[in-house]
Amino acid sequence: MPLEQATVPVEDRGYQFADAVYEVVRTYRGRLFALDEHLARLFRSLDAIQIQHPYTVDQLKSLIGEAIQRAGFAETMVYIQISRGVAKRHRGVPAGCEPMFVMTVRAVPDSRPLRERGATVITVPDNRWSRCDIKSVALLANVLAYQAAKHAGATDAIFIADDGTINEATAANVFIIRNGELLTPPEGPKILSGITRGKILEAARAAGLPAAERRVTKAELIGADEAFLCSTTAEVVPIRSVDGQKIGTGPLAARIYDQFIRMFAS
Ligand code: PDD
Repeated sequence: MPLEQATVPVEDRGYQFADAVYEVVRTYRGRLFALDEHLARLFRSLDAIQIQHPYTVDQLKSLIGEAIQRAGFAETMVYIQISRGVAKRHRGVPAGCEPMFVMTVRAVPDSRPLRERGATVITVPDNRWSRCDIKSVALLANVLAYQAAKHAGATDAIFIADDGTINEATAANVFIIRNGELLTPPEGPKILSGITRGKILEAARAAGLPAAERRVTKAELIGADEAFLCSTTAEVVPIRSVDGQKIGTGPLAARIYDQFIRMFAS
């Protein structure tokens, strides 16, 4: 149905408590990119917050496939949200609360202008909760950090851990390049393990570039030869400056992006 006609009950627990998880998947050349990885992460998120859902991987695949067929866009972005369901507003979950499944389908926004322009970022203290590996819809800290970036005239914000190392941006993972080596913070509760991040690591290694997952300090980010953000929708966006300090924009981010497209999107 048209998006503006779709409604959710006021007492959906996703609306009341952010008691819900989500995924964003996209197509390249009309084919869903890394769907198995996205659905595996969705199931991990659901398990992590103990939502017992009735869907199999195959059922979700066929629902998503049908949605993109019916929408008829050249390239499609699908947002899936599963909440714990609808119940009288109380933090306790009543027996028989059935998960609510919502899917919205849009054309993929064009990432090229931002990829070409590059991002300016600010850094902000990471004031999110301690399970950022769950793709939860509780994104208030991300919204406020993004607003702070806009207020400062920047593109995005990067969350900095208490020890001065970087975690991730408000809806993207971060890589730096130093002496020809890619570095990105390791998987764990401080970041959402991006599907794009995983594919970028594969693409870099295939292109013969060493890549390591380790903590990266803010000073290393600012002193990097290059750095970039990556996500399903942004793809690979070079970072031009951090807190107003210019950082290098060399050729490697573009080379990795080309390799990524060659391997997974063509
Ligand atoms: N967000 N980190 C955070 C906090 C994110 O919200 C996202 C993606 C990523 C990158 O994950 P992936 O490569 O799997 O897209 C990292 C989606 C795109 C969103 O919220 O719209």
